[in-house]
Amino acid sequence: MCGIVGYIGNNDSKEILLKGLEKLEYRGYDSAGIAVMNDNGVHVFKEKGRIADLREIVDLDVSANAGIGHTRWATHGPPSQANAHPHQSESTSLTLVHNGVIENYDILKREYLQDISLKSDTDTEVIVQMIELFVKDGLSVLEAFRKTLKLLKGSYALALLDENDNETIYVAKNKSPLLVGLGSDFNVVASDAMAMLQVTDQYVELMDKEIVIVTKDEVTIQTLDGDVINREAYTAELDASDIEKGTYPHYMLKEIDEQPAVVRKIVQTYRNEQGDLNIDEGIVKAMNDADRIYIIAAGTSYHAGLVGKQFIEKLAKVPVEVHISSEFGYNMPLLSEKPLFIFISQSGETADSRAVLVEIKELGYKALTITNVPGSTLSREADYTLLLHAGPEIAVASTKAYTAQLAVLAILAEVTAKSRGMNVDFDLTQELGIVANAMDVLCGAKEEFEEIAREYLATTRNCFFIGRGIDFYVGLEGALKLKEISYIQAEGFAGGELKHGTIALIENGTPVVALATQESVNLSIRGNVKEVAARGANPCIISMKGLETDEDRFVIPEVHGLLTPLISVIPLQLISYYAALHRECDVDKPRNLAKSVTVE
Ligand code: F6R
Repeated sequence: MCGIVGYIGNNDSKEILLKGLEKLEYRGYDSAGIAVMNDNGVHVFKEKGRIADLREIVDLDVSANAGIGHTRWATHGPPSQANAHPHQSESTSLTLVHNGVIENYDILKREYLQDISLKSDTDTEVIVQMIELFVKDGLSVLEAFRKTLKLLKGSYALALLDENDNETIYVAKNKSPLLVGLGSDFNVVASDAMAMLQVTDQYVELMDKEIVIVTKDEVTIQTLDGDVINREAYTAELDASDIEKGTYPHYMLKEIDEQPAVVRKIVQTYRNEQGDLNIDEGIVKAMNDADRIYIIAAGTSYHAGLVGKQFIEKLAKVPVEVHISSEFGYNMPLLSEKPLFIFISQSGETADSRAVLVEIKELGYKALTITNVPGSTLSREADYTLLLHAGPEIAVASTKAYTAQLAVLAILAEVTAKSRGMNVDFDLTQELGIVANAMDVLCGAKEEFEEIAREYLATTRNCFFIGRGIDFYVGLEGALKLKEISYIQAEGFAGGELKHGTIALIENGTPVVALATQESVNLSIRGNVKEVAARGANPCIISMKGLETDEDRFVIPEVHGLLTPLISVIPLQLISYYAALHRECDVDKPRNLAKSVTVE
């Protein structure tokens, strides 16, 4: 949530900052701003809305070799021009952008800033006003920044400009992601390497409670006490084309279409020279040492966790609990004697999940993170990481990360099972190949899904997804996809639960999407379809080849029964996509959302 960038060098900074912010828009997009600094001082441009709106108000005649920028997902104060970043101190000599949440900002405001009238509702303005207050007391900007940081409680990635020194950007980080990018005759700052890939692929990772002095020729990392830290740069292994839409109208459609290739890549990556699926020995040992596994995740990743539980329990016979990360802290279950925690997170930055990770590490337990982002916070702070290799996921609605999570969880389950001497009576490599081929078929059937979306969802106010067993979990994901991008009220239910209350919501014409991919529950789910149809619902049955009947609306190709979620989700992703298009919604950037949720 929120993205920040900074540039200092020989070139004009405006376009670099704006392009960087466009790449970070997935982190929030309700307002944006840049501040650029030259010999005439600091010039701030900020606007409610998207980067495109910001572009319209940036004065192209102002040329400046240093600047910072921000794209916002509102936490403190509604989206508005006043609350947009950058924020300035009272004298306007200091200018700041911030990603994160300062928990004690109100206390600090009362303690230090009674005499200052703040111009915004944000926690960020409190930081910049405090720095100026300490400068007025006689400290240098660096000392004042340091003193302020020591008083802050919460998360921050900060970039600060001082009007009296146009050769420096001050940067600091705690709990929110931040990188410094290195170039020749310039250096940059970004929440995510993607933003500055346009100018460099060399990055230095920052750790919590570090402060960095960035000039065009030098980057000095210090602790909050001023001790200098040396750290090597790494090469960001990102392909610029991965983060472009290419010929696709939306990232979401591109990412849906990438799923077969992602599954193939995962299989290839997790195979050893003998052709067997293979996982780091330490992870397999941790799985084997555990008497119970606790999967912690949010949103789509939580839905992947529900399916992952089936994989691990059915193949490796280790008991698994799946928990929503934001609830875990209040409802911590009685833990087993030897728990292993698995964090599933596309971004690796979700604050709710990180809070659980911190808590369980304090208790001395081991953690494995399954993530798409190497070097992300959850990856760094866990004992082990399994990467998704799905390539950057830009659309806010997660698609390819979900199927990648399922593929990696299946491999983890299979490798663990085999290491425990369990009999796995199918060849997972081969079955995942069949899955990838089935995905190709589904991605090639877009017209049919567009038709289904038009027929069932163009004007409806709500929609239900039902399934039994593993199909129920896919239904939950289908409902989340539909609601988040089309704003149709959508809910997923276990087929058998309908009659215990939900069926009261069925009206004439209510669309009910039913998944029927499991032989063991095929007749029961079809019975549920009859029940809702008898009450006026408009059922849309998606079944699997071999189980189909004449009444089904779409039949997906046959894959191994345990792996059906990897492909039954694709019709639901595509139906949601086309429903959102019909309703003229912003598919890639749905309202009120952001891609990585870095606040609790
Ligand atoms: C929905 C979606 C979210 C995320 C959730 C967790 O399409 O993307 O529900 O799954 O915010 O994010 P990660 O996986 O980054 O921890």
